[in-house]
Amino acid sequence: MGNFNLPKKAARLIVLQRIELLSPFLAKIRKLFGRYFFSNFITRFFLDPKIIREKYYQIMADEFSIIERFIDSNDKIFLSIGGGVGGLELIINQKFKNNEYHFIEKNYVSKKVKYGWGGMENKEAYNDLNLQKDFLKMNDMNENQIDIYDFDNDKLPDKEFDIIISLFSLDYHYDFNLYKDYLRKVSKSDTKIIFDTIRADYFLKIFKKVEIIKTYNNTVHKSKRVVCSEFWT
Ligand SMILES: C[S@@+](CC[C@H](N)C(=O)[O-])C[C@H]1O[C@@H](n2cnc3c(N)ncnc32)[C@H](O)[C@@H]1O
Repeated sequence: MGNFNLPKKAARLIVLQRIELLSPFLAKIRKLFGRYFFSNFITRFFLDPKIIREKYYQIMADEFSIIERFIDSNDKIFLSIGGGVGGLELIINQKFKNNEYHFIEKNYVSKKVKYGWGGMENKEAYNDLNLQKDFLKMNDMNENQIDIYDFDNDKLPDKEFDIIISLFSLDYHYDFNLYKDYLRKVSKSDTKIIFDTIRADYFLKIFKKVEIIKTYNNTVHKSKRVVCSEFWT
């Protein structure tokens, strides 16, 4: 089985991004002591980075197997929205060489992480863009393949993307409409946009093609993973 190299401190971010990585014991502690104590204390001092990196690799490998059939070797320019530290893109990079990866993320960790629906005003974030870059480089992504944009402070990339991926972020924690005009601008007719949503039917009004590829009944919100393409004008 493969594995990731992990920079110091990245285990904390990864656990906040993928809460299912918590051991049952730490999940109980989180319930008992609350989110603030968990985000600021437990995740700083009580995680085993070796276990986190193994489990994180496995989760990302599983995610890749779900979306793999929508990617081929002609797809070169990738956009990741809320991709966390980028484990999925690393696995794509192991299988398909020489792609460009553009990441739009947020550059802070909320004091009290809530995994709810924040609409257009969602302020929750759990990333550190320097750590993300270190993580990508430590795992064989070349500097010239990586572009990271801070959603709150940077001008977003103006390119046509082949594949756009947003797992458990766009339309899961915040409204798709936050990105709708931007995504329309950076999509071609065959760009595939892959994301998790709590309202798959809504997207029939936005895209000509909407395919549901997985249903999740055990996530924080019951959600569906969709692959969408071709905006209606
Ligand atoms: C639940 S995590 C999922 C991370 C990753 N996609 C994964 O599957 O492991 C949601 C991510 O969305 C990011 N995020 C929150 N608001 C965002 C926004 N407006 N634009 C881009 N990323 C955002 C958070 O910082 C966090 O890393």
